[in-house]
Amino acid sequence: MAEFDIAVIPGDGIGPEVVDEGAKVLKKAAEGSDLTLNFAEFPFGADHYLKSGEVLSDESREELGEYDAIYLGAVGDPRVEPGVLEKGILLNLRFYFEQYVNLRPIRLRHERYSPLKGVEAGEIDMTVVRENTEGLYADSGGFLRRNTEQEVAVQEMVNTHHGVERVVEYAFEYAESRDDSLMLCDKSNVLGYAHDLWQRVFADLSEKYSGVEARHQYVDALTMKMVRDPGDIDTVVTCNMFGDIITDLGAELQGGMGMAVSANINPGGVSMFEPVHGSAPDIAGENAANPLAAILAAAAMMEELGDEEIADRIRSSVDRALAEERITVDMGGDLTTEEMGDFICSLL
Ligand code: NAD
Ligand code: IPM
Ligand code: MN
Repeated sequence: MAEFDIAVIPGDGIGPEVVDEGAKVLKKAAEGSDLTLNFAEFPFGADHYLKSGEVLSDESREELGEYDAIYLGAVGDPRVEPGVLEKGILLNLRFYFEQYVNLRPIRLRHERYSPLKGVEAGEIDMTVVRENTEGLYADSGGFLRRNTEQEVAVQEMVNTHHGVERVVEYAFEYAESRDDSLMLCDKSNVLGYAHDLWQRVFADLSEKYSGVEARHQYVDALTMKMVRDPGDIDTVVTCNMFGDIITDLGAELQGGMGMAVSANINPGGVSMFEPVHGSAPDIAGENAANPLAAILAAAAMMEELGDEEIADRIRSSVDRALAEERITVDMGGDLTTEEMGDFICSLL
């Protein structure tokens, strides 16, 4: 008899549309099982900010800490200066809850949906373990002589031994559990301080995990390899910024932004699950967004909470929908967001 309390932050744009479908699918999947899911919705996002002036208060953040997991749609809105909501909500929560692992699986679930020629389902099966609390995201830096001809703008890439070690160790454990090789993706040929630290930590830990094949690619070459020879990549560990960029490429390899999942994990704390995509203002409010990434993120949440059975059932239903071409417009189908969620529920 398991019971989980889930904090839901629908957010902005298509966030609420896709999260509604994800929650609907979760409820359906739990029906008739001995699992109880309690959902509590939080209003954080553009509307709440524009109305109240509050992005995310310290008290609300603390309150979120009482839940077993957080399920988030997306934040970001054209009416609000870029970064206010993204940093104030999303990064704030990643940092506050020390979700130092951003696990982003890249799996081609059906060959029809990859933009690459001649790649079969299952052949693209890699996972990016993205460092999620520091690097270029640490918000360290500043301006000198702002708005003058002599302006200096510095953005520092902050890498702590502790921060690098914990995520690289997680990646080795993850790779070991999947019988994967582990590839360090960096730019140590240029970033001679920051990524030298990554190199040393990686080398030290590869001795401890001698059963895991340790590999290395510079980030530029890795983007080439992801397109040219994706089947040769297993688990990849990388810094915050590179992880952000290569996982949008990874999203396209598996069928688009509507398929890509992001799990912000604190192995001993509160984790947060979301699609990789953003609030997509260009299609918001049209019932056209693909909710599968949010639905698969819900499955990842159940897996992390320990209910693999429900996670597998949700994933199999998604696979069936893909096989039957019951999909949304972005992937070449004609289902609306809601119809997509309903179809997954009907399979469950
Ligand atoms: P985006 O991911 O929102 O959209 C990129 C493109 O992909 C758009 O053409 C969009 O229509 C399409 N797309 C995205 N998700 C889709 C889906 N589920 N179904 C169909 N098509 C989909 O990225 P962007 O346009 O760079 O950013 C928009 C806003 O979202 C910005 O404010 C940005 O800061 C924010 N953002 C938030 C998150 C997050 O909350 N996790 C992530 C990325 C971007
Ligand atoms: C993501 C997003 C975020 C990031 C932004 C919105 C802060 O792009 O989750 O990939 O850069 O991590
Ligand atoms: Mn991103």
